[in-house]
Amino acid sequence: MRSICVYHSETGNTHAVMEEIIRSIASESLRVRDMAGYGKATMYLLGAPRALFGNSAEIEPSSIDLRGYDLVIIGSPVWASRPTPAVNAIFSALKNASGKKTVLVCTSGGSPGDTLKIMSDRAQSLGMEVLGRYHIPHSIKGRRDDEELNALKGFLWDIARS
Ligand SMILES: Cc1cc2nc3c(=O)[nH]c(=O)nc-3n(C[C@H](O)[C@H](O)[C@H](O)COP(=O)(O)O)c2cc1C
Repeated sequence: MRSICVYHSETGNTHAVMEEIIRSIASESLRVRDMAGYGKATMYLLGAPRALFGNSAEIEPSSIDLRGYDLVIIGSPVWASRPTPAVNAIFSALKNASGKKTVLVCTSGGSPGDTLKIMSDRAQSLGMEVLGRYHIPHSIKGRRDDEELNALKGFLWDIARS
C-alpha cells in the first residue's frame, strides 16, 4: 500500500507526529508551508482569527496530486478549535482525491474542538473515505511511549498490512 502524509506544522508538534508515522509505516511525506510566514505573536494575532473564520492560506506547494496513493494521512495543528488556514488550503489543493482512503490527525494543546469534524467534512466532500480520526493532545517530543500516538500507529499499521 502506498501512503503519503500531507500536513502543516507551524511549531513542529504535528511534524514530530508525522515523522513517527512515516517511520512506522514507511509512508511518503509532504509538509506544506504557509506562505504567511508567521512569528510567535502573529500566529495568534493573525493566524488564529483566520482559522476561526475558516480562511485558506497561500501554501507551497499549491497543488497536491494524490494519483498513485492508496492512503492519505492529513495532519493539522489545532488553531482556535479548528484546522489551520494551511490545512484548509490543503483540501483545496488536492487533485485526484476522490475514492482515496484517508486518516485525519490533529495535534493540540489539549482540545481538538471542531478540527476533526471540519477536516472530515472537507475530505468527504472530495469523495474521500475517512477511515479514522485521531487527536494527539500534547507535544510528543521527549515522550518515549505515548498512548495516543501508539493507538494511531497501531491503527495505521493494520491498514498498511491489509
Ligand atoms: C495560533 C494558535 C492557536 C491555538 N489554538 C489552540 C486551541 O484552540 N486549542 C488547543 O487545544 N490548542 C491550541 N493551540 C496549540 C496547538 O494546537 C498545538 O501546540 C499544536 O500541537 C501545534 O502544532 P504544530 O507544532 O505542528 O504547529 C494553538 C496554537 C496556536 C499557535
